[in-house]
Amino acid sequence: MSGERRAGSVGRPEGDPLDARRSTLLFVGAAQVVTCAGPARARRGGEMRDCGVAPAGTAVAVDGGRVTEAGSLAELEARFADAERVDCGGRLLTPGLVDSHTHAIFGRPRHAEQEMRAMGLPYMEIAARGGGIHASVRDLRGRTEDELVALALPRLRRIAAHGTTTVEVKSGYGLTLEDELKTLRAIRRLQALLPLRLVPTWLGAHEIPQEARARGDAGRREYLRLLVHEMLPAVAGEGLARFADVFCEPGVYTVAESRVLLEAAREAGLGLKLHADELQTSGAAELAVALGAASADHLAAVSDDGVRALAGGGTVATLLPGTMLFLGSARQAPARTLVDAGAAVALASDFNPGTSPTVNFPLVLTLAVSQLRLTAAEAVVGATVNGAAALALAGDVGQLAPGFRADLALFDAEDVRELPYWYGDRRCRGTWVDGVACHPYEAAAHHASGLPLPTASPTR
Ligand code: NIG
Ligand code: FE
Repeated sequence: MSGERRAGSVGRPEGDPLDARRSTLLFVGAAQVVTCAGPARARRGGEMRDCGVAPAGTAVAVDGGRVTEAGSLAELEARFADAERVDCGGRLLTPGLVDSHTHAIFGRPRHAEQEMRAMGLPYMEIAARGGGIHASVRDLRGRTEDELVALALPRLRRIAAHGTTTVEVKSGYGLTLEDELKTLRAIRRLQALLPLRLVPTWLGAHEIPQEARARGDAGRREYLRLLVHEMLPAVAGEGLARFADVFCEPGVYTVAESRVLLEAAREAGLGLKLHADELQTSGAAELAVALGAASADHLAAVSDDGVRALAGGGTVATLLPGTMLFLGSARQAPARTLVDAGAAVALASDFNPGTSPTVNFPLVLTLAVSQLRLTAAEAVVGATVNGAAALALAGDVGQLAPGFRADLALFDAEDVRELPYWYGDRRCRGTWVDGVACHPYEAAAHHASGLPLPTASPTR
């Protein structure tokens, strides 16, 4: 666990100015406390059915930015007599949600493409005509790092306002050395501005840039060379990313190319992720498992062999049902088959301007139950413990258990099954990261509930 603890040092730096505000807190008066407590690793298969629902009368003690204990109120009140109380007002208290797959750094929205798809033009055809990822690349290249920070800031705040406390954020709309570094530096600055925990991923292999495609095979080879020999060393050298990712998909990167890129990234000390079997089956899931990647993501077109590989390996199967919904696809990843085969399934939003422009992670839980046929408990484990495992943070976040980061979310609900039930509604009334109030809930809700006022921050 100590290794995972060290990996968990990404996010808020130790000794940052928030330290002074990390008093001892006692969360009391929740209708249910969902702890997700258990081993500090991904939950597989049948293990996902238990999200650790503790009844009313359970309190959570927090000290020094970490959970001290979740247990009986009477006992914890005696032990932490001086602690500041947070009255949960009969609501649902959960670990802060862990969204392990987003592309939150982009310029303008791409709403025109939604109508184009409705008129029958497929996603990859829009890309072939210079839309899709290419459109976001042209846009991002024309923007400064300051603009990218300013654009992402309110989006990330809205993500936090829905209950998410850890967000993975990918680059991948730059596709030049300079523009990828600009994106990752923007993420680093956002980490300093926001109480959210951000995990940066380098996705220089999100597409083959149009200017390289125009030069055929030679252009493609040159871009691959740039990725491995220039971008990767610069990204790793500046410590700008925790993971590397590749869009492995027929028409984008082949399985063989993805292997070369990910092996180089591993050599450079980065963790591995893979956009795998999203639209067409390619064997990418098997590659992710063979390389020991932290996660294989999407998987709507995963093969039976891919399911077997994920069930038998250590790679988390991260599913993004919002993407398939937004693309208007009738197909979804075989979540039930994956869980029943013994795989560890995580859920994520895929927040991006092309295929999943939602900041609402609980809505993804709705889709997980109604479209992927997971139980509410499986969905919650997928959005907490297994999301954390997909970020190599399973020993640090995703559980309300002793020693874990005090990342919590409070929802206007009394039962965990209400989380996927009130679909599309924003029920989150507060989040805490490292024991510090993270998103400002409405003053009205505050007065009604007696919750403490959110602490001031230079970003709001
Ligand atoms: O995860 N598949 C590749 N990347 C994104 C889409 C990005 C975009 O269309 O801008 C995804 O779906
Ligand atoms: Fe993605």
